[in-house]
Amino acid sequence: MTLAPPVPAAVDPDVVTKEAADVAGSGGLTFHVDGRSITYTSDGTSVICVEGEDSGATAVRLSRRSWDDLVGQMRTFVGLLLSGDLQFERGGFEQLADWEPLLRYLHAGIPPYDPSRADFEGRDPQASFASDADDAELAAQLRTMGYLHVTGVFGADEMAAANLEVDRLASLARPGDDRSWWVTDEDGAQALCRLVYATLRSPVLAALERDPRVRRLGTLLDPELEIAPDRMEGSPVLIKVPGRTRGLSNIPWHQDCGTGGHAMFCPAVSVGIQLTGSDSATGNLQVVPGSHGQALKYRWQDRPDVPVVTVDTAPGDVTVHIQDVMHASPEPTGAGLRRTMYVTHYPATLWDHIGPGEALNDLVRNRTEEVAGLRHGPSAGPSSEID
Ligand SMILES: [Fe+2]
Repeated sequence: MTLAPPVPAAVDPDVVTKEAADVAGSGGLTFHVDGRSITYTSDGTSVICVEGEDSGATAVRLSRRSWDDLVGQMRTFVGLLLSGDLQFERGGFEQLADWEPLLRYLHAGIPPYDPSRADFEGRDPQASFASDADDAELAAQLRTMGYLHVTGVFGADEMAAANLEVDRLASLARPGDDRSWWVTDEDGAQALCRLVYATLRSPVLAALERDPRVRRLGTLLDPELEIAPDRMEGSPVLIKVPGRTRGLSNIPWHQDCGTGGHAMFCPAVSVGIQLTGSDSATGNLQVVPGSHGQALKYRWQDRPDVPVVTVDTAPGDVTVHIQDVMHASPEPTGAGLRRTMYVTHYPATLWDHIGPGEALNDLVRNRTEEVAGLRHGPSAGPSSEID
């Protein structure tokens, strides 16, 4: 039995040729898997995969189980490194990252993101929609762009009530309580940046989570998706801490399956209830339209041809994003303190893998500065992190 899975029939040879040229300079990549070896090399136009060979300029060691998780799109290189399940014998992370999109394509048919292949079907990536817009229109925008902005979904009184609850939960939160995330602020103090499992401690927020307006937007693409209040950190509330923080508050470009879980929960859909509204001063969301369902290339964000949309919102607006659309949460330029509650709608496969109280983010919740310090590039965000 071979280590490498069969190449999916849908793989486009022209895409492989283009990607092979990109990795030709990084040298081959060898995996040592429980005493067996497999090496991928590029001759500049095609990829050669040879089992039993150990000739890569980069070589890593991992268990068969980890290899199966990697090939099966359950875990990524970053995820395996964070958990200590992947060791380098030669080379370093950059070479590994260079190969990752091509390997995801060859192993699972997930194409590398390439802005030249984006097709917006005549739609406007900057468009926002009123909440009484037709469902089919909203679904088409979400399916095309990977995200959606709907205005005026909730009233001012509803957002005021929700903010009072966030105030209450925030006053009870403590570093290390496993119910919150913290960063170090400019003055060196601990600052709350996220409440997790928020709806389990607040009937008001639980009612918001189960509101039909949220369900409508979370199931635009698939009525079978379900919320998971008791796992995957439930419905978290993000709070953007102002200033230059250390830790996972201002998340660089990433996909929410950046450390793993793609096969488990993509394409999950996150509904972001904008409790305060958002702009560059308070902290907002940036997205790359049409990037969902694809693999990030290392340092792709440095390319001049990648479109970026900044989503500014008013209190009561809702953003919707497919979890593997590329997105970022930049440092607020002003007062910060944007608040968003995320209600994510998952495919049923999530419940096959994640039990009550479990989350892929368990790996990083109390290590946020350490994880942020890795800064391995665009896929370094925590896996189910959602802003
Ligand atoms: Fe995210």
